Amino acid sequence: MEMAIEVESLYFSYGDSLILRDINFKIKKGEFVSIIGPNGSGKSTLLKNMISIYKPNRGSIKIDGKEIREYKAKELAKKIAIVPQDTNIAYDFSVFDVVVMGRNPYLGRFQSESYKDFQIVEDSLKLTDTLYLKDKSINQISGGERQRVIIARALAQEPEIMLLDEPTSHLDINHQIEILSLLKKLNTEKSMTIIIVIHDINLAARYSSKMILLNKGEIISIGKPREVITYENIEMAYNLNVVITENLYTNSPYLIPLTSKKL
Ligand SMILES: Nc1ncnc2c1ncn2[C@@H]1O[C@H](COP(=O)(O)OP(=O)(O)OP(=O)(O)O)[C@@H](O)[C@H]1O
Ligand SMILES: [Mg+2]
Repeated sequence: MEMAIEVESLYFSYGDSLILRDINFKIKKGEFVSIIGPNGSGKSTLLKNMISIYKPNRGSIKIDGKEIREYKAKELAKKIAIVPQDTNIAYDFSVFDVVVMGRNPYLGRFQSESYKDFQIVEDSLKLTDTLYLKDKSINQISGGERQRVIIARALAQEPEIMLLDEPTSHLDINHQIEILSLLKKLNTEKSMTIIIVIHDINLAARYSSKMILLNKGEIISIGKPREVITYENIEMAYNLNVVITENLYTNSPYLIPLTSKKL
């Protein structure tokens, strides 16, 4: 099986503080992976290393078999797209223009978008239920609408791998399920490799083939949802008493938080 991403002995620090320690994992093409872990454990930092926003102090990151530092920016953008945790768009672009930006990696320097590019943009807007927003300013829509528009922009990029940092954090329960189902569909029908950071462990367990649990910058567990979501792992990472049961409707492990161990 071909690998989408291989991370080996990765260390990363902001200035003097070491944030990621000895990170090792492999993600096969077509996997659906979720990264979970407490606030500040290094999840967003890890994603940013995986798309070259930050460079590791040491270690190796390969995307589709090639070292990430050897990619040209546009070439990397055709392979992998990110939906960041917070997106600031300084200018008052329309929603449509923001999603059109997803086509940049495919355009030459002075080349403008073709009919096909606009078609892909429209499809991306439809898939994320944002077509009705297309003429509005990106700064004058709700947090959840904005989150879906940024997902649309990543879809328009037509990447092989999609990284999403808490893509459902601002969404109502219907749109949470809708976005995760859309990601699952792209995953199964188009073999897109999906990697999400998400705090909702139950949703993560339901949609993922693999989970990675980060704690204080280290991977403390990696494997199938049932292997990662154990009492011991959750207790250690979150300092929380929990019950782990089974969601009979979705056939996945189900966690019920009880009491914090700090109190
Ligand atoms: N730009 C930065 N400069 C310095 N330190 C940072 C920076 N960004 C994050 N950190 C620190 O690095 C650590 C990891 O942050 P990161 O954003 O990766 O955590 P996270 O797991 O994504 O957390 P959350 O669940 O809150 O999003 C934290 O201690 C944070 O304070
Ligand atoms: Mg984060």
